[in-house]
Amino acid sequence: MNTKFKCTTIEDTEKLAFKFANLVKDSGCFVNLFGEIGAGKTAFVKLVAEALGIKERVTSPSFVILNEYHSASIPVYHFDLYRLEHTGISTITEELREYSEGRKITFVEWAEFSQGELPFERIEIYVTYDDDDSRIYEFKSVGEKNNKIIEGLNY
Ligand SMILES: Nc1ncnc2c1ncn2[C@@H]1O[C@H](COP(=O)(O)OP(=O)(O)O)[C@@H](O)[C@H]1O
Ligand SMILES: [Mg+2]
Repeated sequence: MNTKFKCTTIEDTEKLAFKFANLVKDSGCFVNLFGEIGAGKTAFVKLVAEALGIKERVTSPSFVILNEYHSASIPVYHFDLYRLEHTGISTITEELREYSEGRKITFVEWAEFSQGELPFERIEIYVTYDDDDSRIYEFKSVGEKNNKIIEGLNY
């Protein structure tokens, strides 16, 4: 299933992120984000984290690969695999699989390096943008639980 939203301003993205947070806060989700640098992947994760009530400052994990947050009612993990590239990612695929299981929310930026090897059930978010501040967030779901999340976004 898929659906997309045009977010003209950051406030639109915030509304979308709050809606998404509500849909995943109970049972969790494994989320892959795609899009160029500056598209709005980390911005979306930050806004979801805010909606979940995370108290720590949420920063881009570009240099540390993984940030984790335990101050909300569900644990949140945020990967940025940009620095790993192909070979590096294959070494952590099994570890990533663990982050797709159980009650947690996991965001992965720059997972295109390892497409096909990633956990089966997931939501993919494709972020595209023009020169202005508007962004298109397109959601695709894999797996029944994730189809429900897409339905919830459209509701
Ligand atoms: N409508 C919008 N939605 C999301 N981000 C926006 C929007 N308008 C402006 N921005 C800005 O665009 C930037 C996106 O950067 P970032 O999320 O770090 O990109 P990425 O993680 O995709 O490389 C942020 O500075 C954010 O504030
Ligand atoms: Mg980023």
